Amino acid sequence: MTQNSDTLTDTMRRHSLRLGAFAVGTALLLAVVYALTKDRIADQRLATERAALAEVFPLALHDNDLLDAAFILQPDTAGFMQTHLLGLSTARTAYAATLTGVGSGVILPLETADGYSGTIVLMIGINAEGALTGVRVVQHAETPGLGDKIDTALSPWIRSFNNRSLPNTPEVLWQVKKDGGDFDQFVGATITPRAVVAAVHNALLFFDANRERLLAGTTP
Ligand SMILES: Cc1cc2nc3c(=O)[nH]c(=O)nc-3n(C[C@H](O)[C@H](O)[C@H](O)COP(=O)(O)O)c2cc1C
Repeated sequence: MTQNSDTLTDTMRRHSLRLGAFAVGTALLLAVVYALTKDRIADQRLATERAALAEVFPLALHDNDLLDAAFILQPDTAGFMQTHLLGLSTARTAYAATLTGVGSGVILPLETADGYSGTIVLMIGINAEGALTGVRVVQHAETPGLGDKIDTALSPWIRSFNNRSLPNTPEVLWQVKKDGGDFDQFVGATITPRAVVAAVHNALLFFDANRERLLAGTTP
């Protein structure tokens, strides 16, 4: 009986030691893998972020690193006029572009809660002349097959904002065609594109009201 229980205790101790050694070995292996890959993962993350920014603001229009020129816009950011035009419900990142040290544009975050379902978050690029260089939806919960055509993966619709500006598109045309404007609605889905058109127009009004500060060439 005592001999049996000693054998059992020995066996359990051996298994515990093996398990402990395995855990330590695994942790060490993970630490080594992490150390070897963390720089590459960080580089890939930065490359992905830069590629996303290049979608809305062309590389040819800036020579600064936009990630170094990031600044935060809040619903009530001091120093800007009419921040409510961006529709922000929370702090979001903007980016100031420069070319040879001169402000060449800006990437702005904006939101609209006027879509069909929840908040639509967008990023837009605007050049120094106040023209749109790109608009992309960053986040939305619109209905698949109806409102989700705001996503470039599903439709080129959002590219119809490219090169639009306040001077080349009069106020009355910043609407979907169904309402007398210049922008297509989707079949069976007018609410989503209507909300996006209004949000982008408002963002251009924000840019216009804050042009000097946004193009100051330094992080505001
Ligand atoms: C289940 C369901 C989901 C819908 N999703 C959307 C949507 O994501 N975006 C949208 O614009 N309309 C959506 N619609 C259609 C709208 O209710 C509306 O009929 C359409 O946008 C036309 O709007 P209008 O009458 O203002 O032109 C959806 C309708 C239903 C029944």
